[in-house]
This record gives sequence, C-alpha cells and structure tokens, in this order.
Amino acid sequence: MGDFRVRAAGPDDRERISELLGMSWGGAAVVAHGTVYDALHLPALLAERDGRVVGLLTYTLSPGGLEVVTLDAVPPRGGVGSALLDAGVVVARRAGAARLWLVTTNDNLDALRFYQRRGLRIVSVAPGAVDAARLVKPSIPETGEYGIPLHDELTLELRW
Ligand SMILES: CC(C)(COP(=O)(O)OP(=O)(O)OC[C@H]1O[C@@H](n2cnc3c(N)ncnc32)[C@H](O)[C@@H]1OP(=O)(O)O)[C@@H](O)C(=O)NCCC(=O)NCCS
Repeated sequence: MGDFRVRAAGPDDRERISELLGMSWGGAAVVAHGTVYDALHLPALLAERDGRVVGLLTYTLSPGGLEVVTLDAVPPRGGVGSALLDAGVVVARRAGAARLWLVTTNDNLDALRFYQRRGLRIVSVAPGAVDAARLVKPSIPETGEYGIPLHDELTLELRW
C-alpha cells in the first residue's frame, strides 16, 4: 500500500485535481472560517500511485502558518493522508512557519481521530460556523458523517 509518491502539484495537474475536488467536496469552492477558497488554484501536494492520483493536500502559507485547506486520500487507510500531512509539515518548516493548522467539521470523527493521533491539538471551536458557511455554499449538507447534524467548525493545529 506504500507504493505511492508525494510531490508538489503543477499546472498540468489541474484537471485531475479538479476531478478529485469535485468528487470529495462538490467542487473547488471551500468555505472555512468565513473564507471562501478556490482550492483548484491553491498550492498543492499530490500523492500518486502508478500515475493515478490517490491523494491531495491543498494549502495556503501566511505569516500565521500553513493552513491545510483540503486533505483527501482515495482510498483512505493506506498511509496517504499521513504522508501528505508529513509533506505539509516539511513545506511549512522550510517556509519558516511555526505551525500547520486546519479547520474540520463537527461530524468528521475520522478526521478528528486522524489528526489528534498525529499530534494536532484542537485549539478552537466555532459553533454554527458551518451553518454560516452553508449560506455561502448551499451544497454543504445538513447532515454529515455518521448521520451527525453538521453545524460547527473545529480548528486544529500542530506547533513545533
Ligand atoms: C482523513 C484522511 C485524509 C486520512 O487519510 P488516510 O490516508 O486515510 O490516513 P492514513 O492511512 O495515513 O492513516 C489512517 C489510519 O489508517 C491506518 N493505516 C495506514 N495504512 C494502513 C494499511 N495499509 N492498512 C490498514 N490501516 C492502515 C493508519 O495506521 C491510521 O490509523 P491510526 O490513526 O490508528 O494510526 C482520509 O481518511 C480522508 O480522505 N478522509 C475524507 C476527507 C476528509 O475528511 N479530509 C479531512 C478534511 S479536514
């Protein structure tokens, strides 16, 4: 399962990235902490196996750190998410950032488990932030993973 490689995405990868974002997030528009991102045009790390995309991490870099905007492993549980997260930390450290951070949602128990087991800490909870995001992106469902009503955002971070 470990026979994949991670690299920085380039302009030639756009079409495949667009497909993956469409499949995982219903399109390239991602709303988090009141910000609308066009994930298709963000810097990205790509995981490939036999020339096929098996994972994607999109991010922004700012003085506040590296924000992971999207992270997907297709299929999950093959180590791709961990490898992409590790690569994100390398990018952040090389850029002189002091932390990697991201927003996830209250229903995403798998992601909360995944991130906390990799050292990230929950640093804030924004009740109702997903309800607010839904006004901007109506395709965000009312019900999320495990049939959990989807309302809130949680911010997690890894500092070094
Ligand atoms: C969250 C997500 C990115 C994690 O990526 P992933 O590739 O599944 O993560 P990994 O495979 O590296 O690790 C997941 C678990 O599978 C285990 N695993 C890794 N390789 C494995 C293998 N070959 N066989 C079985 N289990 C394996 C890992 O040990 C890990 O378990 P642990 O947490 O107990 O250590 C992925 O599940 C995903 O794409 N989810 C949907 C999108 C999403 O919610 N993204 C996050 C948005 S904030």
